[in-house]
Amino acid sequence: MKFKIGEKSGEAIFSSDSLEITKHGSRIFVIDKKVSELHERLLNPVIDGDPCYFICAREENKTLPIAEDILNFFLANGINRQSQIIGIGGGIVTDITGFAASVFKRGCSLILVPTTFLAMIDAAIGGKTGLNYAGLKNCLGTFFPADKIYIHTGFLKTNTPENLLNGWAECIKIALLADQQLYEMLREKQTDVNADIIHRAIAGKISYCQNDPEDKQQRQHLNLGHTFGHVLESLTGFRLPHGVAVALGIRLATHLSLEKEMIDAQTHQQINEILDLYGFPRKVSSYHSEFDAVKTRLLLRHDKKVDKDHVLNLVLFAGMHRVKIITEYDYGGIVDRIADLFV
Ligand SMILES: NC(=O)c1ccc[n+]([C@@H]2O[C@H](COP(=O)([O-])OP(=O)(O)OC[C@H]3O[C@@H](n4cnc5c(N)ncnc54)[C@H](O)[C@@H]3O)[C@@H](O)[C@H]2O)c1
Repeated sequence: MKFKIGEKSGEAIFSSDSLEITKHGSRIFVIDKKVSELHERLLNPVIDGDPCYFICAREENKTLPIAEDILNFFLANGINRQSQIIGIGGGIVTDITGFAASVFKRGCSLILVPTTFLAMIDAAIGGKTGLNYAGLKNCLGTFFPADKIYIHTGFLKTNTPENLLNGWAECIKIALLADQQLYEMLREKQTDVNADIIHRAIAGKISYCQNDPEDKQQRQHLNLGHTFGHVLESLTGFRLPHGVAVALGIRLATHLSLEKEMIDAQTHQQINEILDLYGFPRKVSSYHSEFDAVKTRLLLRHDKKVDKDHVLNLVLFAGMHRVKIITEYDYGGIVDRIADLFV
């Protein structure tokens, strides 16, 4: 699948058996340590002895010090602008590798091999890179689409139920935003991820990014559920998985849309039902953390969707497969709604 994000052209290449990455000049790999162990037989011939930086994929490692360590590794291995930087892993690896590739010598050739369902349909697609900074999710980042993205469904065989749940959240989000056919497919409860679903979800995401690479207009719709989701992730010290946080964020957006009479009760029910079908919770469990109103307010103020007057820009539903960006002044009301998720 060829795509163009802004001025940059790229390609998503699908396979289910072997993984072949065309070699051009010098190369360097940034690889999820767990994936390198689980898929050693598949990856060894791909790596072919080239230098590898192994990363333990945890949110605590998606940070500037680790990015700096990766940049030092590039320097030590003589990487230049013509080299290929290849990131293999879930969204943590694709985010940090993309970031490093975008700043190293003002941008190198980037190849991503997403290994989770979520990274295949979302994190590796569209060119956003991200690092957590000062306890804030994705506070640092660049826009830097990959030149090539290899979607190898063999990696999905080892995805954990949590990996898959995270992917389903983003997949449901795309379906709810714009793709009625995908929504109907998901309603049939495909328990297995399949190439058709991945293909549709990628095409859906690209359709939002191609004319708005820097997230200034239509692409902001993809933030559905994310303003609240990111707050929940930070509040729980990243114990709440990204997808579960996004699903709770979508539920909250749906609730607010109903309150503001932007949708009817039936649409509210349909959206919640599809999230129920895939097993998403309705509340943050006490295992994840206690609610903290002061911290919630602070996190909301730091959200990237907050404008210069400190008003929140929320993506809410205006119907099924229709969203609208709403300016919200009532911080207190939003903090209360988030608090409701903890009881
Ligand atoms: N840049 C974007 O547009 C974008 C979009 C969505 C999410 N993200 C980011 O992606 C991250 C979440 O990524 P994720 O859910 O893909 O997972 P992840 O990178 O957080 O990894 C989660 C766990 O799965 C493991 N894992 C990875 N591939 C595996 C495989 N094939 N088999 C078994 N285990 C595997 C990892 O080692 C890790 O333990 C978050 O940091 C989020 O902010 C970025």
